[in-house]
Amino acid sequence: MTYEFTKEDLDRIESIKKEYPEVKATTLQVLWVAQDRFGHVDADVQRLVAATLELPEAHVHGVASFYTQYYKQKMGKHVLDVCTCLSCQLCGGYDILNHLEKKLGIKAGETTKDGMFSLQQVECLGACGYAPMLQVTNGEFVNHLTEEKVDHLLDKLRNGEDPEHEMMEMPLRKQKENP
Ligand code: FES
Repeated sequence: MTYEFTKEDLDRIESIKKEYPEVKATTLQVLWVAQDRFGHVDADVQRLVAATLELPEAHVHGVASFYTQYYKQKMGKHVLDVCTCLSCQLCGGYDILNHLEKKLGIKAGETTKDGMFSLQQVECLGACGYAPMLQVTNGEFVNHLTEEKVDHLLDKLRNGEDPEHEMMEMPLRKQKENP
């Protein structure tokens, strides 16, 4: 599939480039621009980013593939990133992941047929003190998970409700949006 940045995207990319001494350093930020525009950074989008920045495709692919936060395929409306790294694992992270797999009828790495949820198993999200935890679509953290809390979260997301009271905003993403 062929993707193109809009004029607004290209203006955004130009202003990002002014913030860094060399273009290579803009890769993370420009991948965000791409993901915000297309909803993912699959191989075609990675090629577009490489061409736009005049960087080797292998470099862009290396960066995109390193971070689970960049979606390498089309994802569901809500992406549930379940941490199963050490602290979360010791506090039941795998139980939470298994519960979600059962409830959603998918395995980690898959998307529900209705396109509502994608499930990912991820490494430490830097909120070990709140284990076990998950992150919703690169945004809010949901902490101290139990199966009941997960069920409640799914219901709220399905109903388009804001489960704000059970979440903690992700500081880095917030900074990116409001520097
Ligand atoms: Fe899960 Fe660090 S181990 S957030």
